[in-house]
Amino acid sequence: MKTALITGILGQDGAYLARFLVGKGYRVIGTYRRTSQIHTWRLEALGIQDKVTLECMDLEDLSNQIRILSKYQPDEIYNLAAQSFVAISFEQPIITGQITGMGVVNLLEATRIAAPHARFYQASTSEMFVRVKETPQTETTPFYPRSPYGAAKVYGHWITVNYRESYGIFASTGILFNHESPLRGIEFVTRKITDAVARIKAGLQDKLVLGNMAARRDWGFAGDYVEAMWNMLQQDDPGDYVVATGESHSVEDFASLAFEVAGLGDWQAFVETSSAFRRPSDVDFLIGNAAKAKAQLGWEPRVNFEELVQMMVYSDLGRQGVSLKDMLLSPGVTQLVKDEVAVALHPVMDVSEAVK
Ligand code: NAP
Ligand code: GDD
Repeated sequence: MKTALITGILGQDGAYLARFLVGKGYRVIGTYRRTSQIHTWRLEALGIQDKVTLECMDLEDLSNQIRILSKYQPDEIYNLAAQSFVAISFEQPIITGQITGMGVVNLLEATRIAAPHARFYQASTSEMFVRVKETPQTETTPFYPRSPYGAAKVYGHWITVNYRESYGIFASTGILFNHESPLRGIEFVTRKITDAVARIKAGLQDKLVLGNMAARRDWGFAGDYVEAMWNMLQQDDPGDYVVATGESHSVEDFASLAFEVAGLGDWQAFVETSSAFRRPSDVDFLIGNAAKAKAQLGWEPRVNFEELVQMMVYSDLGRQGVSLKDMLLSPGVTQLVKDEVAVALHPVMDVSEAVK
């Protein structure tokens, strides 16, 4: 049985990756940072809280990491932990650099010392491109980050490449474009929108206030993207891979579709904008070219933009107690969407009749 260690297992990607690896028969060790209350809601939603071993480990503490890696001797290490919210990185640039940048070299050092034969995955990001030098972006597009988060990730990316080249560690990076899900953190724009749409539908909220609605992103489904991570570590050689859908939509497109899916009509009746949600510098347009991942990993996204918006809106409507039966039974809703909604909702609502 192979052992995988996932840092940031309590985050969105960590939970989906853990589900995927448990399904593949791995022993999964998931690490989380110490907080006053451990939040396991994502693992519970995915039904795997009893199938993974949790260990407290902070990306800032090298000695802690050496002990954990020595104890478990993982075959694969997935470094997903980070201060991952771009907006807050402008407010907390130093801690973002320490966790999202220096945290990577800590874990690489721990790997070199305590588990040198482990295969290592680093969560790189399209946020490294930003002021883009070519469209769509590929593995060879030059980086030009425009946030403390993006700058920290560029360091994490290059130090991973450096450990691969210097010490022969099997270290790969996934340059992942935005990926979302019903388990996305509420601070990110997609989930902020779908949560607000559900609350408006349930009569709990009147307005949704957003920032830059013209920003365009290449949005995919997190459940698809974690499979690409695993695939990268099964290759004969390590490498760097863009993972994206190749489609770009604006925040306005996302909001417009979300209001429509909930049957609320015109989004403009509910949405306001405020400079409070604008960033000192923003990313206007990202779109990825995942041709290498397709050719070498055989990876392609399964969930399209409309399905992604649907699964997020329906999950949030269910969380607010809105009946979903008629919506889920409508012909435009695919089985994939129904299945992910059922997963996201099973702790709070049984939609099994509608998803058969
Ligand atoms: P997420 O939901 O924010 O999860 C990140 C996890 O890292 C959280 O569980 C967080 O703990 C943990 N963490 C934060 N600081 C830590 C520290 N000092 N030590 C140990 N753990 C710490 O992010 P995600 O969306 O799953 O993304 C996973 C990774 O992919 C991140 O590195 C992110 O930057 C990168 N990425 C994400 C996307 C995307 O669109 N989702 C795209 C490209 C790259 P708490 O749960 O306690 O906050
Ligand atoms: N969060 C947020 N809140 N963003 C808003 C809002 C709002 O009210 N209004 C407009 N936006 C715009 C942001 O300015 C940005 O241009 C876009 O929506 C997306 O913002 P986020 O959802 O916060 O994601 P992100 O693209 O900044 O970062 C995410 O994707 C990166 C990959 O490109 C995160 O998951 C990063 O960790 C990841 O690396």
